[in-house]
Amino acid sequence: MYYEKHSDSSSNPLLIQAARNLLARQREAERSDAVALARRVGINPDAWQADVLRSTERQVALLCSRQAGKSTVTSLLALHEALHRPGALVLLLSPSLRQSQELFLKVKQAYGALTGEIVQAREESALRMHFSNDARIVALPGKEATIRGFSGVDLLIIDEASRVSDELYQAVRPMLAVSGGRIVLLTTPAGKRGFFHTEWTEGGDEWQRVKITARECPRISSEWLEAERQRIGDWWYRQEYMCEFVETLDQVFSYDDIQRALDDPQVKPLFG
Ligand SMILES: Nc1ncnc2c1ncn2[C@@H]1O[C@H](COP(=O)(O)OP(=O)(O)OP(=O)(O)O)[C@@H](O)[C@H]1O
Ligand SMILES: [Mg+2]
Repeated sequence: MYYEKHSDSSSNPLLIQAARNLLARQREAERSDAVALARRVGINPDAWQADVLRSTERQVALLCSRQAGKSTVTSLLALHEALHRPGALVLLLSPSLRQSQELFLKVKQAYGALTGEIVQAREESALRMHFSNDARIVALPGKEATIRGFSGVDLLIIDEASRVSDELYQAVRPMLAVSGGRIVLLTTPAGKRGFFHTEWTEGGDEWQRVKITARECPRISSEWLEAERQRIGDWWYRQEYMCEFVETLDQVFSYDDIQRALDDPQVKPLFG
């Protein structure tokens, strides 16, 4: 019979070694390029997403339109860190536990789409994954008290960053100082205030800034956008889709007016 004449390839030591070598090379390539992980998950990243996945900057700020794909790309960053850095601690933070969980769900979906992954998920819940290489990904509520317990953070991701409080941001930053870890902020704008706006406009060249409007997203058509502008009005459209820090409705004086007044030598301070 056919199978008696041919040796079974699964027991051929040379073939087994060749397959192992190939897998090791692929893994090494993926370790130094998170785009390879995205492809293994079945996602073909947009050019800007590929740039973010390949970035080695310690501080990255993503100012993106709604639905641009910012949560998708950062969930891949989180997964890459966990699978390729044994013992890594990745924290996912946002204004609320529900939003952190949503991002975490994307991480879980990406992990679930992998076949033949050698790093196993040892413990898995709605809030955390603990992997066989001792790496952890933890989704956190936007509350200072819960966060202070963590140290040695390798990657801190803050989703909807423009809606996270300044107090929380001040509380998490020291964690990175000791570990030398990375921080990635992602958000749509929410007025000219808060730490995200400050880092974006005045944070200096220590930040890699990436701005992606809806026009730059290949999955959002210009016809749909025009209809949306009619539907939601100009103010929301500029904020949600064009990534503009438009004045929040409760800011009586515009930020630019105040800056101009402060810079104007003709304007004398009322006090002092
Ligand atoms: N490179 C890509 N290829 C195909 N689909 C993508 C890609 N990136 C993101 N998507 C899809 O686009 C949709 C929006 O992605 P995602 O949720 O990451 O966007 P977001 O910017 O976080 O949106 P939101 O502002 O609503 O939080 C999702 O259905 C996601 O699967
Ligand atoms: Mg999102």
